[in-house]
Amino acid sequence: MLASPRLGADLVRSTQDLVVVLDFGAQYSQLIARRIRELHVYSLILPFDTALEEILALRPKGIILSGGAASVYEPGAPRCDPGLFTSGVPLLGICYGMQLMAQALGGETGPAPRKEFGRTRLYVDELAGDGLFRGLERRLLCWMSHGDTVHRLPPGFETLAHSDHCPHAAVADRARRLYGLQFHPEVSHTAWGADVLRNFLYGICGCAPSWTMTSFVERATQEIRAQVGGGRAICALSGGVDSSAAAALVFRAIGERLTCVFVDHGLLRRGEADQVVAVFRDHFGMPLVHVDARQRFLERLRGVTDPEQKRVLIGREFITVFAEEASRLGRPEFLVQGTLYPDVIESGTRTAARIKTHHNVGGLPAALPFRLVEPFRTLFKDEVRVVARTLGLPDAMVDRHPFPGPGLAIRVVGEVTEERLAILRHADAIVTEEIRRSGLARDVWQAFAVLLPVHTVGVAGDARTYGHVIAVRAVTSQDGMTADWARLPADLLETVSNRITGEVRGVSRVVYDISSKPPATIEWE
Ligand code: XMP
Repeated sequence: MLASPRLGADLVRSTQDLVVVLDFGAQYSQLIARRIRELHVYSLILPFDTALEEILALRPKGIILSGGAASVYEPGAPRCDPGLFTSGVPLLGICYGMQLMAQALGGETGPAPRKEFGRTRLYVDELAGDGLFRGLERRLLCWMSHGDTVHRLPPGFETLAHSDHCPHAAVADRARRLYGLQFHPEVSHTAWGADVLRNFLYGICGCAPSWTMTSFVERATQEIRAQVGGGRAICALSGGVDSSAAAALVFRAIGERLTCVFVDHGLLRRGEADQVVAVFRDHFGMPLVHVDARQRFLERLRGVTDPEQKRVLIGREFITVFAEEASRLGRPEFLVQGTLYPDVIESGTRTAARIKTHHNVGGLPAALPFRLVEPFRTLFKDEVRVVARTLGLPDAMVDRHPFPGPGLAIRVVGEVTEERLAILRHADAIVTEEIRRSGLARDVWQAFAVLLPVHTVGVAGDARTYGHVIAVRAVTSQDGMTADWARLPADLLETVSNRITGEVRGVSRVVYDISSKPPATIEWE
């Protein structure tokens, strides 16, 4: 089961055109949905076996059938309701989706005599200039990834494009508005893929470009007002972009009936706590409770060196502090959370083994007695960033690199003490500052410092020293699930190293982490 089919349906108004992406287990489904939204059409991902009536009840202007890892001729291969193909809604099948449609409508799909992977030359055969390939060259480079192919087209279909080894690389039954692509228009390697999707959305489905973040903010504001009514809400603010933007949006909707609670656990980076207070209390004028819980967390963490124990203790303490504040505030009935669409989609499918107990400061457990207000349940991260900017959050907050809920506690390897936190915070500020100065901040997923639990020998002047070691970690990544170490310029690393050993007292050595994930993880604990 993937996302609930009802997901986001409340956001869809009669004025809001919607395209459904049926997910057949493709790694690219989210990418398809994002591309559609980038073209200003609202999209939702639904599981392949969603009942036809449920899909049609959303009144989609078009449906895209995603790719998938299975072969359509295998027993047990994922199938949608065949009524979809005769529903009259325009369809675009991509890869597996195209093969499934061809099979269902009387064509034939089987193993390709020659598989195609990667950049592939495509020859456009489409005659009329007003179809899928409108405005495009006749010879193009596309991205293929398939072992199966459509051998025989169903009645009524014609070929729109072919490649050297795939006779039916794009197909259509124009009268029934059924389209299929063997290549992937959603990946960036198909440079003109957005044009094909645009032609499908605007030319074939008749969608209007109505999905913008400004229109989202307006709609979401109305919906939050309708949901909360005259009630009161509380929001756990971490300073991260998701909870910050959620707080700003809910404040826009219900004003001072929202109170933000900022639990300062003392594990934040330099300047972060002050920034949260300056932005929310001083700039926005929101009711903000700033809980100084630094000593409490330090006491809990005293003597603890096991990473999992740290995470669990911090998570628990956070909930305790938050619940105390909620009681003090007379326990508002609504809790605002910055949950994102990928979390909602993935929570139903996540089967991966737990590597670390992730503690999300914004994400309090469902067991707390609140009704949830989650305005971003249908948004991708890049959309939330646009919302955040629209709402006037400062760039430094909007463009922040991801930061773990347990904060610096999992970057102080070994015991967390005030002194060790201060060393790490200083070194981390240098890393952040230099990466920003180099203009590479947007090219790396995260860059930070880690304090190691060892001392090593150094020399300063004529004297022997025995100091701390800082590891610098910078990675590139798409989603944090896999990552590679960033090839930072040597002179940047040199500046970082010189500044840390020169400015941070007690540090005599800096090392650069050159491990990828897997086998390492991004954080050290
Ligand atoms: P790892 O270390 O598992 O991290 O490779 C992947 C991404 O997740 C972040 N991370 C966390 N985020 N709570 C969070 O909200 C956590 O407990 C947590 N642990 C790791 C990490 O910074 C990276 O972006």
